[in-house]
Amino acid sequence: MRICILGATGLVGRELLTLLDRAWPGAERVLYASRDQTLEHGGESFAVHAAAKLETEDAPRGDLAFVALDDQYSARYCPRLVDLGYRVIDKSNTYRMDPDVPLVVAGVNHRRVDDSVSLIANPNCTTIPLTLALEPLRARFGLGEVTVSSYQAISGAGVAALDDFIAQTAAGFAAMAESGDRLGEGLDAANYPGNTVPHAGKTDDSGFSSEERKLINESRKILELPELGIGAQCCRVPVTVGHYENVWLELREPTTAEAIAEVLRVAPFVSYLPGAEGAELTALATLKRRDSALVGRLRRDNRDQDGRRWCLTVAADNLRLGAATNAVRAGSAWFGGEDPSLRV
Ligand SMILES: NC(=O)c1ccc[n+]([C@@H]2O[C@H](COP(=O)([O-])OP(=O)(O)OC[C@H]3O[C@@H](n4cnc5c(N)ncnc54)[C@H](OP(=O)(O)O)[C@@H]3O)[C@@H](O)[C@H]2O)c1
Repeated sequence: MRICILGATGLVGRELLTLLDRAWPGAERVLYASRDQTLEHGGESFAVHAAAKLETEDAPRGDLAFVALDDQYSARYCPRLVDLGYRVIDKSNTYRMDPDVPLVVAGVNHRRVDDSVSLIANPNCTTIPLTLALEPLRARFGLGEVTVSSYQAISGAGVAALDDFIAQTAAGFAAMAESGDRLGEGLDAANYPGNTVPHAGKTDDSGFSSEERKLINESRKILELPELGIGAQCCRVPVTVGHYENVWLELREPTTAEAIAEVLRVAPFVSYLPGAEGAELTALATLKRRDSALVGRLRRDNRDQDGRRWCLTVAADNLRLGAATNAVRAGSAWFGGEDPSLRV
Protein backbone atom coordinates (compact mmCIF):
# COMPACT_ATOMS: atom_id res chain seq x y z
CA MET A 1 0.00 0.00 0.00
CA ARG A 2 1.36 3.43 -0.94
CA ILE A 3 0.14 6.40 1.10
CA CYS A 4 1.03 9.97 0.30
CA ILE A 5 0.82 13.10 2.41
CA LEU A 6 0.75 16.48 0.70
CA GLY A 7 1.75 19.20 3.13
CA ALA A 8 3.81 16.73 5.18
CA THR A 9 5.93 19.53 6.69
CA GLY A 10 2.91 21.44 8.07
CA LEU A 11 1.30 21.08 11.48
CA VAL A 12 -1.41 18.70 10.28
CA GLY A 13 0.91 16.82 7.92
CA ARG A 14 3.32 15.98 10.75
CA GLU A 15 0.49 14.62 12.90
CA LEU A 16 -0.60 12.49 9.94
CA LEU A 17 2.89 11.09 9.65
CA THR A 18 2.79 9.99 13.29
CA LEU A 19 -0.63 8.39 12.91
CA LEU A 20 0.20 6.52 9.68
CA ASP A 21 2.76 4.47 11.59
CA ARG A 22 0.01 3.34 13.96
CA ALA A 23 -2.72 2.80 11.39
CA TRP A 24 -0.84 1.26 8.44
CA PRO A 25 2.63 0.37 9.77
CA GLY A 26 3.79 -1.54 6.67
CA ALA A 27 2.72 1.04 4.11
CA GLU A 28 5.11 2.94 1.87
CA ARG A 29 4.96 6.67 2.70
CA VAL A 30 5.55 9.31 0.05
CA LEU A 31 5.72 12.89 1.27
CA TYR A 32 5.24 16.17 -0.57
CA ALA A 33 5.39 19.88 0.28
CA SER A 34 6.25 23.10 -1.58
CA ARG A 35 9.81 22.01 -2.48
CA ASP A 36 12.32 19.18 -2.12
CA GLN A 37 13.60 19.10 1.46
CA THR A 38 14.34 16.82 4.44
CA LEU A 39 11.88 16.66 7.30
CA GLU A 40 13.10 15.73 10.79
CA HIS A 41 10.19 14.23 12.69
CA GLY A 42 9.93 11.84 15.65
CA GLY A 43 13.68 11.17 15.57
CA GLU A 44 13.62 10.19 11.88
CA SER A 45 14.61 11.97 8.66
CA PHE A 46 12.15 11.89 5.79
CA ALA A 47 12.70 12.85 2.17
CA VAL A 48 10.02 15.31 1.07
CA HIS A 49 9.42 16.05 -2.62
CA ALA A 50 8.14 19.14 -4.37
CA ALA A 51 4.40 18.62 -4.96
CA ALA A 52 4.80 19.88 -8.54
CA LYS A 53 6.46 16.53 -9.33
CA LEU A 54 3.01 14.96 -9.10
CA GLU A 55 2.19 16.79 -12.31
CA THR A 56 4.85 15.04 -14.36
CA GLU A 57 3.81 12.22 -16.69
CA ASP A 58 5.73 9.53 -14.81
CA ALA A 59 4.42 10.51 -11.33
CA PRO A 60 3.89 7.31 -9.31
CA ARG A 61 0.39 5.97 -8.74
CA GLY A 62 -0.81 5.10 -5.24
CA ASP A 63 -3.64 4.10 -2.92
CA LEU A 64 -4.46 6.69 -0.27
CA ALA A 65 -3.62 10.40 -0.18
CA PHE A 66 -4.00 12.92 2.61
CA VAL A 67 -3.94 16.52 1.41
CA ALA A 68 -3.09 19.08 4.12
CA LEU A 69 -2.57 22.22 2.02
CA ASP A 70 -4.22 25.61 1.70
CA ASP A 71 -7.33 25.81 -0.48
CA GLN A 72 -5.71 26.85 -3.76
CA TYR A 73 -3.16 24.03 -3.65
CA SER A 74 -5.82 21.47 -2.77
CA ALA A 75 -7.78 22.54 -5.85
CA ARG A 76 -4.61 22.07 -7.90
CA TYR A 77 -3.51 18.65 -6.61
CA CYS A 78 -6.62 16.70 -5.52
CA PRO A 79 -7.89 16.03 -9.08
CA ARG A 80 -4.39 14.94 -10.12
CA LEU A 81 -4.15 12.50 -7.20
CA VAL A 82 -7.51 11.00 -8.15
CA ASP A 83 -6.19 10.57 -11.72
CA LEU A 84 -3.18 8.77 -10.26
CA GLY A 85 -5.50 6.21 -8.67
CA TYR A 86 -5.43 7.55 -5.11
CA ARG A 87 -8.41 7.68 -2.76
CA VAL A 88 -8.08 11.27 -1.54
CA ILE A 89 -8.93 12.91 1.80
CA ASP A 90 -8.71 16.68 1.56
CA LYS A 91 -8.38 18.75 4.71
CA SER A 92 -8.95 22.17 3.24
CA ASN A 93 -12.17 24.08 2.70
CA THR A 94 -12.10 23.54 -1.09
CA TYR A 95 -14.57 20.65 -1.48
CA ARG A 96 -16.44 20.67 1.83
CA MET A 97 -19.70 22.15 0.58
CA ASP A 98 -19.57 20.44 -2.84
CA PRO A 99 -22.76 18.34 -2.94
CA ASP A 100 -20.88 15.57 -4.79
CA VAL A 101 -18.14 15.28 -2.16
CA PRO A 102 -18.91 13.57 1.17
CA LEU A 103 -17.96 15.68 4.20
CA VAL A 104 -16.97 13.05 6.70
CA VAL A 105 -16.78 12.89 10.48
CA ALA A 106 -15.68 9.42 11.56
CA GLY A 107 -18.19 8.23 14.13
CA VAL A 108 -20.98 10.34 12.63
CA ASN A 109 -21.34 9.75 8.88
CA HIS A 110 -18.40 7.57 7.77
CA ARG A 111 -20.93 5.34 6.00
CA ARG A 112 -20.51 7.93 3.19
CA VAL A 113 -17.02 6.53 2.50
CA ASP A 114 -17.34 3.62 0.11
CA ASP A 115 -16.00 2.38 -3.20
CA SER A 116 -18.23 4.72 -5.18
CA VAL A 117 -16.20 7.80 -4.08
CA SER A 118 -12.56 8.72 -4.64
CA LEU A 119 -12.49 12.10 -2.91
CA ILE A 120 -13.83 13.03 0.51
CA ALA A 121 -13.49 16.22 2.54
CA ASN A 122 -12.43 16.58 6.15
CA PRO A 123 -14.48 19.22 8.02
CA ASN A 124 -13.23 22.27 9.89
CA CYS A 125 -11.49 21.64 13.21
CA THR A 126 -14.37 23.09 15.27
CA THR A 127 -17.06 21.23 13.32
CA ILE A 128 -15.64 17.74 13.94
CA PRO A 129 -15.84 17.74 17.77
CA LEU A 130 -19.13 19.65 17.75
CA THR A 131 -20.87 17.14 15.49
CA LEU A 132 -19.43 14.20 17.46
CA ALA A 133 -21.26 15.61 20.50
CA LEU A 134 -24.43 16.61 18.64
CA GLU A 135 -25.09 13.51 16.52
CA PRO A 136 -25.82 11.07 19.38
CA LEU A 137 -28.04 13.70 21.03
CA ARG A 138 -29.86 14.25 17.73
CA ALA A 139 -30.40 10.50 17.36
CA ARG A 140 -31.77 10.10 20.90
CA PHE A 141 -33.67 13.34 21.61
CA GLY A 142 -33.88 15.26 18.31
CA LEU A 143 -32.16 18.63 17.83
CA GLY A 144 -33.95 21.94 17.97
CA GLU A 145 -31.54 24.89 18.01
CA VAL A 146 -27.80 25.07 18.63
CA THR A 147 -25.73 28.13 19.58
CA VAL A 148 -21.94 27.95 19.72
CA SER A 149 -19.23 30.33 20.89
CA SER A 150 -15.70 29.21 20.05
CA TYR A 151 -12.31 30.05 21.59
CA GLN A 152 -9.77 28.76 19.09
CA ALA A 153 -6.05 28.05 19.32
CA ILE A 154 -3.42 29.74 17.17
CA SER A 155 -2.18 26.45 15.68
CA GLY A 156 -5.40 26.44 13.64
CA ALA A 157 -3.70 29.09 11.48
CA GLY A 158 -0.73 26.85 10.54
CA VAL A 159 2.91 26.50 11.46
CA ALA A 160 4.09 29.99 10.48
CA ALA A 161 1.38 31.72 12.57
CA LEU A 162 2.10 29.42 15.53
CA ASP A 163 5.85 30.04 15.45
CA ASP A 164 5.29 33.83 15.23
CA PHE A 165 2.86 33.64 18.13
CA ILE A 166 5.31 31.75 20.37
CA ALA A 167 8.17 34.14 19.58
CA GLN A 168 6.07 37.29 19.95
CA THR A 169 4.44 36.05 23.18
CA ALA A 170 7.82 35.24 24.72
CA ALA A 171 9.23 38.65 23.75
CA GLY A 172 6.05 40.55 24.65
CA PHE A 173 5.68 39.05 28.14
CA ALA A 174 9.42 39.42 28.82
CA ALA A 175 9.13 43.12 27.95
CA MET A 176 6.07 43.46 30.22
CA ALA A 177 7.91 41.87 33.15
CA GLU A 178 10.96 44.07 32.57
CA SER A 179 9.07 47.35 32.29
CA GLY A 180 6.39 46.64 34.94
CA ASP A 181 3.66 46.83 32.27
CA ARG A 182 1.21 44.55 34.13
CA LEU A 183 -1.75 45.10 31.79
CA GLY A 184 0.00 44.64 28.48
CA GLU A 185 -0.30 48.17 27.12
CA GLY A 186 2.91 47.48 25.18
CA LEU A 187 1.35 44.49 23.40
CA ASP A 188 -0.20 44.87 19.95
CA ALA A 189 -4.00 45.14 20.44
CA ALA A 190 -4.55 43.71 16.95
CA ASN A 191 -2.29 40.67 17.38
CA TYR A 192 -2.69 37.29 19.14
CA PRO A 193 -0.19 37.40 22.08
CA GLY A 194 -2.02 38.01 25.35
CA ASN A 195 -5.22 38.81 23.48
CA THR A 196 -8.67 37.60 22.35
CA VAL A 197 -9.30 38.41 18.70
CA PRO A 198 -12.40 37.94 16.51
CA HIS A 199 -11.97 35.08 14.03
CA ALA A 200 -13.07 37.55 11.38
CA GLY A 201 -11.39 36.40 8.15
CA LYS A 202 -13.55 36.69 5.00
CA THR A 203 -16.46 38.34 6.79
CA ASP A 204 -19.16 38.65 4.13
CA ASP A 205 -22.33 40.74 3.75
CA SER A 206 -24.07 38.59 6.37
CA GLY A 207 -21.56 39.95 8.92
CA PHE A 208 -20.30 36.43 9.68
CA SER A 209 -16.73 35.29 9.06
CA SER A 210 -15.76 32.24 7.02
CA GLU A 211 -14.94 30.35 10.23
CA GLU A 212 -18.45 31.04 11.54
CA ARG A 213 -20.08 30.09 8.24
CA LYS A 214 -18.05 26.85 8.09
CA LEU A 215 -19.20 25.79 11.55
CA ILE A 216 -22.83 26.49 10.63
CA ASN A 217 -22.97 25.07 7.11
CA GLU A 218 -20.72 22.06 7.63
CA SER A 219 -22.69 20.99 10.73
CA ARG A 220 -25.91 21.10 8.73
CA LYS A 221 -24.41 19.01 5.94
CA ILE A 222 -22.83 16.37 8.23
CA LEU A 223 -25.90 15.99 10.45
CA GLU A 224 -28.09 15.96 7.32
CA LEU A 225 -30.23 18.71 8.85
CA PRO A 226 -30.22 21.45 6.19
CA GLU A 227 -32.70 23.52 8.17
CA LEU A 228 -30.94 23.19 11.55
CA GLY A 229 -31.17 26.44 13.50
CA ILE A 230 -27.53 26.95 14.40
CA GLY A 231 -25.67 30.16 15.22
CA ALA A 232 -21.96 30.60 15.83
CA GLN A 233 -19.49 33.27 16.91
CA CYS A 234 -15.76 32.50 16.76
CA CYS A 235 -12.67 33.99 18.40
CA ARG A 236 -8.99 33.19 18.57
CA VAL A 237 -7.46 33.05 22.02
CA PRO A 238 -3.76 33.02 22.93
CA VAL A 239 -3.29 29.29 23.36
CA THR A 240 -1.14 27.05 21.18
CA VAL A 241 -3.49 24.10 20.71
CA GLY A 242 -7.05 23.06 21.65
CA HIS A 243 -10.23 24.56 20.28
CA TYR A 244 -12.83 25.21 22.99
CA GLU A 245 -16.56 25.59 22.25
CA ASN A 246 -19.35 26.61 24.60
CA VAL A 247 -22.65 25.23 23.32
CA TRP A 248 -26.28 26.08 24.10
CA LEU A 249 -28.68 23.36 22.91
CA GLU A 250 -32.39 23.00 22.52
CA LEU A 251 -33.52 19.38 22.22
CA ARG A 252 -36.83 18.31 20.68
CA GLU A 253 -37.71 16.02 23.59
CA PRO A 254 -37.50 16.98 27.25
CA THR A 255 -34.94 14.97 29.19
CA THR A 256 -32.63 14.87 32.21
CA ALA A 257 -28.93 15.51 32.68
CA GLU A 258 -28.47 11.84 33.56
CA ALA A 259 -30.07 10.69 30.28
CA ILE A 260 -27.87 13.09 28.24
CA ALA A 261 -24.76 11.94 30.12
CA GLU A 262 -25.69 8.31 29.43
CA VAL A 263 -25.76 9.03 25.68
CA LEU A 264 -22.47 10.97 25.72
CA ARG A 265 -20.67 8.33 27.80
CA VAL A 266 -20.97 5.81 24.95
CA ALA A 267 -20.74 8.24 22.00
CA PRO A 268 -17.99 7.33 19.49
CA PHE A 269 -14.72 9.25 19.90
CA VAL A 270 -16.16 11.32 22.77
CA SER A 271 -14.62 11.44 26.27
CA TYR A 272 -17.44 12.53 28.52
CA LEU A 273 -16.23 14.40 31.59
CA PRO A 274 -18.85 14.48 34.36
CA GLY A 275 -19.32 17.51 36.59
CA ALA A 276 -20.65 20.95 35.79
CA GLU A 277 -17.45 22.64 37.01
CA GLY A 278 -15.43 21.33 34.04
CA ALA A 279 -12.48 19.71 35.79
CA GLU A 280 -10.00 18.52 33.12
CA LEU A 281 -11.92 20.36 30.42
CA THR A 282 -9.40 22.92 29.22
CA ALA A 283 -7.81 23.65 25.87
CA LEU A 284 -4.43 22.23 26.88
CA ALA A 285 -6.04 19.16 28.48
CA THR A 286 -6.92 18.08 24.94
CA LEU A 287 -3.22 17.22 24.52
CA LYS A 288 -3.75 14.37 27.00
CA ARG A 289 -6.59 12.87 24.95
CA ARG A 290 -5.62 13.97 21.48
CA ASP A 291 -7.93 11.64 19.58
CA SER A 292 -11.20 12.35 21.43
CA ALA A 293 -13.64 15.20 21.74
CA LEU A 294 -13.81 16.20 25.41
CA VAL A 295 -17.42 16.93 26.32
CA GLY A 296 -18.53 18.16 29.73
CA ARG A 297 -19.84 21.04 31.84
CA LEU A 298 -23.28 19.56 31.14
CA ARG A 299 -25.95 21.56 32.92
CA ARG A 300 -29.52 22.71 32.49
CA ASP A 301 -29.72 26.14 30.85
CA ASN A 302 -30.81 28.64 33.51
CA ARG A 303 -33.64 29.70 31.16
CA ASP A 304 -34.98 26.15 30.73
CA GLN A 305 -38.70 25.58 31.42
CA ASP A 306 -39.20 21.93 30.46
CA GLY A 307 -35.95 19.92 30.24
CA ARG A 308 -35.15 20.74 26.60
CA ARG A 309 -32.52 23.51 27.01
CA TRP A 310 -28.99 22.52 28.01
CA CYS A 311 -25.47 23.92 28.14
CA LEU A 312 -22.28 21.99 27.56
CA THR A 313 -18.66 22.50 26.52
CA VAL A 314 -16.76 20.68 23.80
CA ALA A 315 -12.96 20.85 23.44
CA ALA A 316 -10.58 19.03 21.12
CA ASP A 317 -7.03 19.01 19.85
CA ASN A 318 -7.49 20.84 16.53
CA LEU A 319 -4.46 19.18 14.92
CA ARG A 320 -5.41 15.62 15.88
CA LEU A 321 -9.13 14.97 16.45
CA GLY A 322 -9.93 18.17 14.54
CA ALA A 323 -7.78 17.22 11.55
CA ALA A 324 -5.34 14.28 11.27
CA THR A 325 -7.12 11.70 13.44
CA ASN A 326 -10.46 12.23 11.78
CA ALA A 327 -8.85 11.89 8.35
CA VAL A 328 -7.10 8.62 9.27
CA ARG A 329 -10.32 7.20 10.72
CA ALA A 330 -12.19 8.23 7.58
CA GLY A 331 -9.48 6.51 5.49
CA SER A 332 -10.00 3.34 7.53
CA ALA A 333 -13.48 3.07 6.02
CA TRP A 334 -11.65 2.32 2.73
CA PHE A 335 -8.48 0.60 3.93
CA GLY A 336 -9.05 -0.75 7.48
CA GLY A 337 -5.97 -0.27 9.66
CA GLU A 338 -4.04 -1.90 12.48
CA ASP A 339 -4.87 0.39 15.40
CA PRO A 340 -8.45 -0.11 16.66
CA SER A 341 -8.54 3.43 18.11
CA LEU A 342 -7.93 4.82 14.60
CA ARG A 343 -10.60 2.73 12.88
CA VAL A 344 -14.30 3.25 12.35
N1 LIG B 1 -4.10 23.63 11.70
C1 LIG B 1 -5.30 23.12 11.98
O1 LIG B 1 -5.75 23.09 13.14
C2 LIG B 1 -6.17 22.60 10.88
C3 LIG B 1 -7.27 21.84 11.22
C4 LIG B 1 -8.11 21.36 10.23
C5 LIG B 1 -7.82 21.63 8.91
N2 LIG B 1 -6.72 22.37 8.58
C6 LIG B 1 -6.44 22.61 7.17
O2 LIG B 1 -5.38 21.74 6.79
C7 LIG B 1 -4.57 22.39 5.79
C8 LIG B 1 -3.12 22.43 6.31
O3 LIG B 1 -3.09 23.16 7.54
P1 LIG B 1 -1.76 23.28 8.43
O4 LIG B 1 -2.19 23.97 9.66
O5 LIG B 1 -1.08 21.97 8.54
O6 LIG B 1 -0.88 24.27 7.51
P2 LIG B 1 0.68 24.66 7.63
O7 LIG B 1 1.22 24.22 8.95
O8 LIG B 1 0.77 26.08 7.25
O9 LIG B 1 1.37 23.77 6.49
C9 LIG B 1 1.13 24.03 5.13
C10 LIG B 1 1.75 22.95 4.26
O10 LIG B 1 1.51 23.34 2.89
C11 LIG B 1 2.75 23.23 2.16
N3 LIG B 1 2.77 24.13 1.03
C12 LIG B 1 2.81 25.49 1.04
N4 LIG B 1 2.85 25.98 -0.23
C13 LIG B 1 2.81 24.90 -1.05
C14 LIG B 1 2.86 24.72 -2.46
N5 LIG B 1 2.95 25.76 -3.28
N6 LIG B 1 2.80 23.46 -2.97
C15 LIG B 1 2.75 22.40 -2.14
N7 LIG B 1 2.74 22.49 -0.80
C16 LIG B 1 2.77 23.72 -0.26
C17 LIG B 1 3.80 23.58 3.18
O11 LIG B 1 5.05 23.09 2.71
P3 LIG B 1 6.46 23.87 2.99
O12 LIG B 1 6.90 23.47 4.36
O13 LIG B 1 7.35 23.34 1.91
O14 LIG B 1 6.18 25.35 2.88
C18 LIG B 1 3.27 22.82 4.40
O15 LIG B 1 3.63 21.45 4.32
C19 LIG B 1 -5.21 23.77 5.55
O16 LIG B 1 -6.13 23.68 4.49
C20 LIG B 1 -5.96 24.01 6.85
O17 LIG B 1 -7.05 24.89 6.68
C21 LIG B 1 -5.87 22.84 9.54
